[in-house]
Amino acid sequence: MSILIQESKPVSIDFKGMMPELSKRHRATHHIHKYPAKLIPHIPNYLIQKYSQEKDIVLDPFCGSGTTLLEAILCNRNALGVELNPIGRLISKVKTTPLDIESVEAASKKCYKKIKTCNKFTIPEFENRDLWFTKKTQNNLAKIKSSIESLDLDQDIFDFLMVSLSSIIYKVSNSEQRDLMPRLSKNPIQANVLNEFLRQLNFNIERIKTLQSIKTKSQIIGNDAVTINSKRKANLIVTSPPYLSAMAYFRTTKLEYYWLNNGNEKSYKNFARKSIHGELSSGIPKQIHHTEIEEIDHLISSLYKKSKPYGLKTSLYFEQMEKILEKMHKILYDDGHFAMIVGNSKILEKRIFLNRLIPKLAEKTGFEFKLELRDRIKFHRLGIKRSNKTNRIYNEHILLFKKY
Ligand SMILES: C[S@@+](CC[C@H](N)C(=O)[O-])C[C@H]1O[C@@H](n2cnc3c(N)ncnc32)[C@H](O)[C@@H]1O
Repeated sequence: MSILIQESKPVSIDFKGMMPELSKRHRATHHIHKYPAKLIPHIPNYLIQKYSQEKDIVLDPFCGSGTTLLEAILCNRNALGVELNPIGRLISKVKTTPLDIESVEAASKKCYKKIKTCNKFTIPEFENRDLWFTKKTQNNLAKIKSSIESLDLDQDIFDFLMVSLSSIIYKVSNSEQRDLMPRLSKNPIQANVLNEFLRQLNFNIERIKTLQSIKTKSQIIGNDAVTINSKRKANLIVTSPPYLSAMAYFRTTKLEYYWLNNGNEKSYKNFARKSIHGELSSGIPKQIHHTEIEEIDHLISSLYKKSKPYGLKTSLYFEQMEKILEKMHKILYDDGHFAMIVGNSKILEKRIFLNRLIPKLAEKTGFEFKLELRDRIKFHRLGIKRSNKTNRIYNEHILLFKKY
């Protein structure tokens, strides 16, 4: 698995080709729940093995559904994660928490029995609920949720059951099933909610069994990477932040969020506003932030001239990235490595070379740029059509920095 690296030039790597054993369908708990823009596990696995030691601490400040965290514990490292989306935090936790299998199986049986007789349940209120779910589906989802809540369960098992419920919500909704982003279908499927839940639960129990021999621990330490303060230090940071102007990540899990967190559009907006790529225009400042890096400031002002909102959004992205780099510099041990996976995109027909711009910001905040690895994206990570104005990401750029 070793590759010859010439530090000054980007090195092309086919991670999947190099580590075919990691491509196995349903490896460990990677697929217990869908999530947008997931990393392929090969990338964090490679970086963790190359730039950390057993028992070290690996941090992912945009951990999403926990791909890096899971790879870290599978490689006998400890893991720390930060994630704004509550659904991402929950999936990450469950994916990396070994459980006593007998207790999970017993709890699942109890839960299923309870659902069968459940006649007191509450359906959460949220916008367009009756469009997204048939009445029958709403009743059945609410029965499952109320039954889980009524059992006196250990928190880890409770979370496991909730993730199993969450992972069927999209499938049983009236949403177009091929899409990652909820969109009402003209021909919604007639789902059998209880069968789906049972099937998913059994699948997830089989997957969680694969964590039995894990000796290290993973922990979610916060919500917002921009403001995170951690007493614990990390030996290695591996992360893929939201792409500049990429899609609205949070929207993809909004139905799950409504059900699990009793959420609605208003509460959803409260956390989506803090998203690094400015998912909502209400979170975008009125003034441009200057990074004092000529190439970045020039890019921002030329976008601003074409379109104020795009200029301000791009400015906010770099401002937040700089803050995150400063935070990561504090959290990383001296000589620790920081790998950031980014994609280049287009805004208003202008190509944005994040692989060139991020190293400049990182050097400003005290990192030394070591090398760039490139992996070609063979399928669209987001799995959805994007607007032509912001589109087209072809390579994953793995930027490696060292703290000095
Ligand atoms: C590209 S995705 C990461 C996916 C992850 N690597 C995985 O495999 O599941 C980026 C993540 O950053 C999260 N995010 C956006 N703004 C954030 C912030 N300010 N703090 C922490 N997480 C944030 C998004 O919710 C999203 O889950």
